[in-house]
Amino acid sequence: MALDFEQYYDSRKKLVNNFLEKRMEKRGISNVDDAMKYSLLAGGKRLRPILLMATADALGANGYDYLPAACALEMIHTYSLIHDDLPCMDNDDYRRGRLTNHKVFGEAMALLAGDGLLTLAFEVMAEQRNVKPSTLVEVIHETAMCAGNFGMVGGQALDLEAEGKKISAKELKTLHEGKTGALFIAAIRGGARLAGATDEQLLALTHFAELVGLAFQIEDDILDVTGTQEELGKPTGSDDKNDKSTYVTLYGLEKAREMSEKTTQEALRCLDMFGEKAEALRGLANMMCHRRN
Ligand code: IPE
Ligand code: IPE
Ligand code: MG
Ligand code: MG
Ligand code: MG
Repeated sequence: MALDFEQYYDSRKKLVNNFLEKRMEKRGISNVDDAMKYSLLAGGKRLRPILLMATADALGANGYDYLPAACALEMIHTYSLIHDDLPCMDNDDYRRGRLTNHKVFGEAMALLAGDGLLTLAFEVMAEQRNVKPSTLVEVIHETAMCAGNFGMVGGQALDLEAEGKKISAKELKTLHEGKTGALFIAAIRGGARLAGATDEQLLALTHFAELVGLAFQIEDDILDVTGTQEELGKPTGSDDKNDKSTYVTLYGLEKAREMSEKTTQEALRCLDMFGEKAEALRGLANMMCHRRN
């Protein structure tokens, strides 16, 4: 039977939201928990955890079994957003339809909320069951690499260094692969490893992740110019305000749109070998490229 993608996405999103809410009921020793919850439970598309689970589904496993590892990625992602919005970074006032973390809790507490979420992510990852401990260690190791100076943090640093500069196409691609692509790689390769992918499957899924991550950030750059704050839940024009290097500034809107579409089609081709089981992954890839928020 053909997959009802809307229903799949909604039910997976509910699982993620419920898990995160429940996990945050276990409070630490201070009010930093309130700042962590404020951003983590503010909605968001939940793409990274759903991608991890959908990848496991594509391999014939049940993504639901890997909910803790999946949700840990959402914690890392949310921390990256809190820090990305800080005055010393992109200096934005809205995120996920509400005031940014530092606007409500102050800069110092927002910094700590990010630190708390990043750390909690690894606590939760280590709580993942239904997997061989040695495989889990590999997944945790790779997630850390994707989140840190080899991945997202490195990409964010490149993004800062590229402000106000004309950088090359190659440099821009490296920047995007780091700041955004790396966490998608963590999600998709994480799901693949947890579900026991073969080397051949892992290779195809890695290629899929690279392409879909790139298309996603090209779309983010496009939406920063063409979207509205109501749709996005975050301010538009942020890149222009900060003189960022983006796919729109380097290639122009039309070409950027073309590149995102072409990259998505190429990503979809990587899934051919998975047949019908990859329907959810295909739905997610299409959604990532043809979104309005
Ligand atoms: C925004 O990510 C930051 C980028 C990496 C472009 P999302 O667009 O996935 O944000 P949420 O999680 O839905 O809020
Ligand atoms: C940031 O990219 C990606 C992160 C690692 C958070 P952007 O700065 O373009 O993300 P938005 O547009 O603020 O969500
Ligand atoms: Mg940024
Ligand atoms: Mg930003
Ligand atoms: Mg952006």
